Amino acid sequence: MAQPGRVIISQAELQERIAELGAELSRDLGHDRPILVGVLQGAFLFMADLIRAMSIDLTTDFIGVASYAGGKTSGQVRIVSDLSMSIEGRHVVVVEDIVDTGLTLSYLKRALEARHPRTLRVCVLVDKIERRKVDVAVDYVGFTIPNVFVVGYGFDHEGLYRNLPYLACLDGV
Ligand code: IMP
Ligand code: MG
Repeated sequence: MAQPGRVIISQAELQERIAELGAELSRDLGHDRPILVGVLQGAFLFMADLIRAMSIDLTTDFIGVASYAGGKTSGQVRIVSDLSMSIEGRHVVVVEDIVDTGLTLSYLKRALEARHPRTLRVCVLVDKIERRKVDVAVDYVGFTIPNVFVVGYGFDHEGLYRNLPYLACLDGV
């Protein structure tokens, strides 16, 4: 049975790196009053910690995309829950849990660019660079990890383990 195994990024390491990312975003976005767009569900914990590490005025919104089933990427991406506000003319930061093949993020970036934000940046917690299938630019990366399936801190396997406060490898898959 698949279950969380070795911890690959501890709670303390997550918090330390997220504090740095928050400071960097705050510097870069100064008085821009950005909209931070969290990608559901995986990024909800990262988003909550990241915005609390930011010292500037900001707005939050969420978008839900479906791209993944049972640990395999389907290559099919669709918006299942849309933003609640217009992003036209605004500075937008997409807050995403992980870039794996890059398919989800490249689709999402195209979909959001079409709404004419003033700027569009991407901040991801975890980059699995070895797995990339499409080239997609990421502006802020928390951690780069090898090709292992991770759970915890918002990341799930079949809907489970999002509530772990750290990132662990999934054993038994
Ligand atoms: P991509 O489209 O292949 O880049 O995959 C992006 C999505 O796949 C992420 O937003 C996650 O929801 C999911 N995903 C990819 N790798 C993992 C993992 O190791 N653990 C949990 N979810 C993952
Ligand atoms: Mg995601």
